[in-house]
Parts: sequence; C-alpha cells; structure tokens
Amino acid sequence: LQTGRDYPPILCSFSPSWLPNHSRFVAVGGIYTVIQTKARLTCEEWGENYFLVGPYMESSVRTQVELIEPCNAALRRTIDKMNSSGCKVYFGRWLIEGSPYVILLDVGFTAWSLDRWKSELWENCSIGVPWFDREANDAILFGFLTAWLLGEVCTQCDEPPHIVAHFHEWLAGLGLVLCRQRQLPVATIFTTHATLLGRYLCAGNVDFYNNLAEFNVDKEAGDRQIYHRYCLERAAVRCTHVFTTVSQITAIEAEHLLKRKPDIVTPNGLNVKKFSAMHEFQNLHAQSKARIQEFVRGHFYGHLDFNLDKTVFLFIAGRYEFSNKGADIFLEALARLNYLLRVNHSDVTIIAFFIMPARTNNFNVETLKGQAVRKQLWDTAQTVKEHFGKKLYESLLVGQLPDVSKMLDKEDFTMMKRAIFATQRQCLPPVCSHNMLEDSSDPILNCIRRIGLFNTAQDRVKVIFHPEFLSSTSPLLPMDYEEFVRGCHLGVFPSYYEPWGYTPAECTVMGIPSISTNLSGFGCFMEEHIADPSAYGIYILDRRYCGVDESCNQLTSFLFQFCQQSRRQRIIQRNRTERLSDLLDWRYLGRVRYYTHTHTHTQNTVNCFSDHEGPMLCPLSATGFRYPRPASVPPSPAHSLHSSPHHSEAEDEEEPYDEDLEAEKDRVNIRQPFNMPNRNKNQTVSL
Ligand code: UDP
Ligand code: G6P
Repeated sequence: LQTGRDYPPILCSFSPSWLPNHSRFVAVGGIYTVIQTKARLTCEEWGENYFLVGPYMESSVRTQVELIEPCNAALRRTIDKMNSSGCKVYFGRWLIEGSPYVILLDVGFTAWSLDRWKSELWENCSIGVPWFDREANDAILFGFLTAWLLGEVCTQCDEPPHIVAHFHEWLAGLGLVLCRQRQLPVATIFTTHATLLGRYLCAGNVDFYNNLAEFNVDKEAGDRQIYHRYCLERAAVRCTHVFTTVSQITAIEAEHLLKRKPDIVTPNGLNVKKFSAMHEFQNLHAQSKARIQEFVRGHFYGHLDFNLDKTVFLFIAGRYEFSNKGADIFLEALARLNYLLRVNHSDVTIIAFFIMPARTNNFNVETLKGQAVRKQLWDTAQTVKEHFGKKLYESLLVGQLPDVSKMLDKEDFTMMKRAIFATQRQCLPPVCSHNMLEDSSDPILNCIRRIGLFNTAQDRVKVIFHPEFLSSTSPLLPMDYEEFVRGCHLGVFPSYYEPWGYTPAECTVMGIPSISTNLSGFGCFMEEHIADPSAYGIYILDRRYCGVDESCNQLTSFLFQFCQQSRRQRIIQRNRTERLSDLLDWRYLGRVRYYTHTHTHTQNTVNCFSDHEGPMLCPLSATGFRYPRPASVPPSPAHSLHSSPHHSEAEDEEEPYDEDLEAEKDRVNIRQPFNMPNRNKNQTVSL
C-alpha cells in the first residue's frame, strides 16, 4: 500500500461474490464473471495498487488463492492489528488472469461480534436485521469488517492514502455506509448489478415496467420480508459518492426503486480470446457439437429416429428464475414451434437444453443408463470392427478379395444382437437428467407436463432439463459451460428481468447467435450500437412494448426461421456474430474506460482529493457509435427483416459468397465510426 499524495490512488474492490461457491454469499453467476474478467485489465491499469476484498472461504482459497505476506508495511501492520483484535484476515494473490491481490476476511470467525454490530447498526442507521436471515447476518459481519479494514489502513499509513473503494451489490454495501458514517477519507463507488426489489417483484409476475413509478417501495419490500435488506441496499446507494449500474434499463429501475439516478452506467465486458486462425472458432463449434451429439445418442437410445445431422441445438442457461429468465415463454414457444415443424413436415429436429441449477438428488438412473448403453454399443462396434479387420487383412495377405458373407461369424452377430436388444426401452427419453427434490412443484417440469413436450417420436422438438451447472468432470455430459455453448447453434435468453445478461454476451464472443430481449441490458446495448442486430445473429425479442402472447409468437417465429437456415447460412451467420466480439471486450472500444472514468470521476467528486490532480472529465457518453449492417445484406429493411445471411437457396447458388471479402468490408465499416475525430472537443474520455 503506497501512501502520500505523490503516489497514485489505491483501488479496493469489495464484493461478496468474487470467490465462487460461497455457501451463503451469492456464488457463481453474472457478478462473479464481471469481477473475474475485469481483473486482468484493472491490474494492468492500477498495478500493485489494486486489491480485491472478499469473504474467506477455505475450499475456494485452497484451489484458487496463493496466500502470501502482505505486500507492504502499512498493510502488514493493518492485518496484524486486526488479527490480534479477534479477526482472521488473509492476504494473497487470486490465481486468475492478472493475479490481483486479495484481502480475505473470515466472516465466521468474527460471528461473536454480530450482536454488538447489529445494535450499533440499529443505533446509528436505524436498520434492524432479524436473527434468522443468515445472508443478511453475513452481510453485516462483512460490512463491519471491511469498514474496520479501511479505517485501519488509513490509520496505519504514514500519510493519508488516496483510496477509491468500489462496493458491489447490497451484500457488500454496508461497508460503504459505515465508511461514510465514520467519515473515513475514502472515495466510494457503489455498483448495483440488479435491484433487490426489482428481482423480487418480477419473479412474482408483477407488471413491473409499466408500474415502476407507482410502487410503494417500503411496503413491497416489507410484504416480501426483505425490508432490512432493502434498507441496507438503499443506504449504500444514498451514501455513495458515485453510484453506477450495468445498463440503462437497470438505471431506470434504480431511479424508481432506490430513489437515486445512477451517475454512470458501466456496461459489462468479457475477455475476448482472439484466435490466430479466423476460422478456429468454427472448428471448435464442430468439435464441441460432436460431443453434444454423442451425449444425445445416449440420451435418446432406442428413440434415435431423427437425423442428428439435421438437429439444431438450442439452450437457455443461468440462475433458475423461471419467469425472470424467460424459461416460461421459451417453453411455450417450443410447444408452438413443435406444432409448426410438424405441420410443415420439417425434417429438422430441435433439442432444447435447460441448464438451470435446482435442488436435486443426483442424476437419474435412466439418464445414466442411456450413456452406458451408448458406450456398450460403441464397444461392441469396436470389437466387431477388429474381428472384421483381422479377417480382411488375412484374406489380403493370401492375395484374395474377401468373401463378405464370411467376414463376421456367429459370435459377432450374437454380440451385436445383444447390444441391439439392450437399446430397447419401455419409457421415453427423460426430459430431466436428475432426480428433482421438488419434482411436483418444479416450474419447468410442470410447464412441460402442461404443454406435453415429452420427447415422443412425433415431437420435432425435444427437451432436456439439466438442473445443474455444467462441468467437465460430469459423468453424464463431461463438458464445461464454454465448450457446451460452442457446440450449440443458438442461445435463447428471452428474459423479462435481466439487468445485464452475460449469457448472450458470452455466446457472441464465441460466435454463437443468440436471442435476448429489449428488457435486458445486453439486448438494449446491442440494439443501441448495431444497425441491424439480427443480421449478426443477435435477435432481440420485444418484451417491452407487447404482451406475453405476442412476444411468444415473435420468439416462435425467430426459432422457426432459424431452423430453416441451411448449414452454409448458419456458418456465415456465426462468422458475423463473432465479428461483434470487440464490442464486448473489456479491452476494446472503451469498455474498461467506463470503469476508468468511474474511478477518476469518483476521485474528482470527493472533497478529500480536491488537491489531487486527476484528469478532469466530462460526462462519459456511450452514444455516437453504431455497427453498420453487414456488407452483404441489402439495405432495404423489407429484405433484411429477420435477416438471415442469405435470403434463399437460389441466391446461394447464383451469387458466390466471398466470406473474407465480406469480413473485410465489415471490418472497414466497423472501424470507420470509431476512427472519427472527437466531436466534443472537451471530452477527454471518448469512445
Ligand atoms: N454459467 C456457468 N455455468 C453454467 C451455466 C452458466 O458458469 O453451466 C455462467 C455463465 O457463464 C454466466 C453466468 O453463469 O457468466 C450467468 O450470468 P448472467 O448474467 O447471464 O445471469 P445471472 O446469473 O447474473 O442472473
Ligand atoms: C463449422 C465447421 C464445419 C461444419 C459446421 C457445422 O463451421 O468448420 O466444418 O460443417 O461447423 O455447422 P452446423 O451449423 O451445421 O453445426
């Protein structure tokens, strides 16, 4: 920790979710992706002055953190002092890209202070937290510990340091409130990635966006028994020097529900991996798809009456919030699509995966059996192939063409018949891969029961619900999430409540088209910055200006059109989708500058830094750049409606498609708007 006004400021990022798998604090999800992917670039910018602060979790630390001595004297004194006063504070490097420093606070170890801190919170802030809310109790412990840490750092430094403390989400927000209440010389930022009340209201099927201004927020929070949490969140919003959120749509929500307009919107980015060969991501698609096909062969054993080469893989993934994530309208649209494909005698089969974690009691037997049967068939085929090959070889050795009828003997046939008999099945391929603990009340399963998508032979749309996040060590589908996404054809995320939505962004950088909505941060961002998103495989569903049934029809029509694309059209579309990845990269086009801007703006805002000569900034504007339509799509909107890369098979044949040429034209088009000189001369941070 460097001190003194001549030194650059220090950035501390407080998040309860930066280490995954924490039992009570939020685990893996969008916020984790933000913190983790942003670390490398933030480290490049802030160097040794960037510290992430989070709760200590032994199991995660064992595999992800190298514990080391504190990197300077002031910090060592701070940690020693806290440890000798009944805390457990660890210092280390998080073993991810950028290897940022981490300060870990053992929340459980200071549980003895909970009652005292709770009464202090009540006395100073009039926020009462009930004893049974473990998550809120943890938030209190974490909050007091972080404020203690910051206070101690300020004391231990020889000269007052410049500290910018960035707090993410309500779970980390109390530390900020206490910093202000104790008047610590720390510049604070609070980022909300969603509002607590918004998430609860939407999950309850409320007409959310049409009533944003009408909600009696205290009553709504009280009715849902989250009033104390809401108070913690709102206090952080109220107290922070700079308030940010991740999208315009959440900014509007925050203004109404948290009663403060965010100062800056900081859209989320990703670390985009660029391959040296342009088509590498296409090869990866083919490899991963082959692995998904293997799984499907096992899952549908005995019912493999569809052509896997004409099977399109769709998926939805994320936290299990049935209606917020749009799983409800996705299922409804699948039922309609099933009907459409059947009446049109389509030879295309759709397999829709639902990857949403729910409470389970492990994989179900039928699903595991499917993979065992597939493996047995594979082994049988290998054994017979070996016998066949040996006989063929022997016949060629004596200069004869083999007598094909004698190539396989009785044992071979018996073995093959046995293997075929094993594929007989009394039941349909399961719609769910696990034993669900709440099977009878599970919303996805109940919806499947209602709409009757049971994976019958007549169904052109099959469904597989995998109620667990993917892992490469799974005995069922041994793929990690990234591999799985690469192997699919289309990600479907028709969310109603989605402050940002990493899942479609991740699809984009992997060159996989996706459907999102104009109620999601990602969808709005893409709509704003791309002239014709669907031409790039970014389908944006209207959930804002039309009713559920209409949205569902639109979704069905997107899906139906997608199914009708030829392989060549899909390949072209994937190329286009991948070309958008720069737009989502932390590094490019100023995405990290949103954060840089926020940090500098915070320093400029805070009085205690008034003599610090940071760059003066004008408000950051995200407007003014827009990806043009792809070069080969005709400019008429009529032609480009639901733009598929080409418009007919005939056109495919008549007009040879030069992919590299199109890519080059697009690249020129795309770069042009960004190379334009700054229109606003005063704007020092530009996009
Ligand atoms: N994810 C994952 N494993 C899976 C499915 C999803 O790690 O099997 C991750 C995915 O990569 C994404 C996050 O979960 O980064 C979901 O983020 P999103 O913003 O879409 O939704 P949130 O969980 O924040 O509501
Ligand atoms: C990639 C591969 C091709 C493969 C294609 C399949 O582009 O490079 O070799 O034919 O994927 O595409 P599809 O959309 O049918 O999965």
